[in-house]
Amino acid sequence: MDKERLRAFLKDTIRQEVDFSQTDQNRGLAPPPVEKPCAEQARRIDLPKADQFKDLGKIDLFTAIARRESVRSYRPEPLSVKEVAFLLWATQGVRRVLDPGHALRTVPSAGCRHSFETYLCVLHVAGLEQGIYRYLPLEHQLVFEFAEHDLAPKVQQAVLGQPYPARAALSFIWTAIPYRMEWRYGPAAYKVIALDAGHVCQNLYLACEAIGCGTCAIAAYDQTAVDRLLKVDGREEFTIYLAPVGRK
Ligand SMILES: Cc1cc2nc3c(=O)[nH]c(=O)nc-3n(C[C@H](O)[C@H](O)[C@H](O)COP(=O)(O)O)c2cc1C
Repeated sequence: MDKERLRAFLKDTIRQEVDFSQTDQNRGLAPPPVEKPCAEQARRIDLPKADQFKDLGKIDLFTAIARRESVRSYRPEPLSVKEVAFLLWATQGVRRVLDPGHALRTVPSAGCRHSFETYLCVLHVAGLEQGIYRYLPLEHQLVFEFAEHDLAPKVQQAVLGQPYPARAALSFIWTAIPYRMEWRYGPAAYKVIALDAGHVCQNLYLACEAIGCGTCAIAAYDQTAVDRLLKVDGREEFTIYLAPVGRK
């Protein structure tokens, strides 16, 4: 492998090499939708809104930051839908819709492109059947994607045998839709997509601390297996990061 070429990914020298007049944005193409559409007949679940989170999170930000750690074992008690809603809002919640192609969220994103979708692999959440769900940030809803037999062992296998997602109440699985970032930045899109993922997961760590839960970032996984588990195409949308969540 060419180390220099791989290291160049971390640098911003690409900005001098890209002809930004040729990006889809500057050629006048409409921005892609800020969230992946879902079928008309999909089962949607309304989530408690941010004004109902006041009784969650009894610790201050200093304590949350000081206590943050990767947690790989969890108590068996399920999470509530309200707690899950809080974690979704903390990681991808919409603060303000600017126009049909731009929505500000609780995390920053290069050019406000927000190229992630959030899937949940739900094992133990009170009131939710086991299965794969997806967050709709604009509507602050969950959409039930599908149920899956033997979900716990399948997710464990898909993360190369790491046992935490199978023991967690649920796992966050973030996919990237690179075109959302490419539309604006062309070939300079990829580094900032990776940077953006860090903000999302760090908010999850801190939000988990606030409600007595724990998480652990996972970047080591079988790409094909996780993409298959989510039923995403692996080209226009693919898994980028995971994080199991459970009570401490
Ligand atoms: C980008 C990234 C990828 C990681 N991938 C994994 C992983 O696949 N499996 C795992 O057990 N921990 C993973 N971790 C957790 C780290 O091992 C952990 O953050 C580190 O050991 C420091 O511990 P702390 O988070 O408790 O401070 C990852 C962390 C980050 C930030």
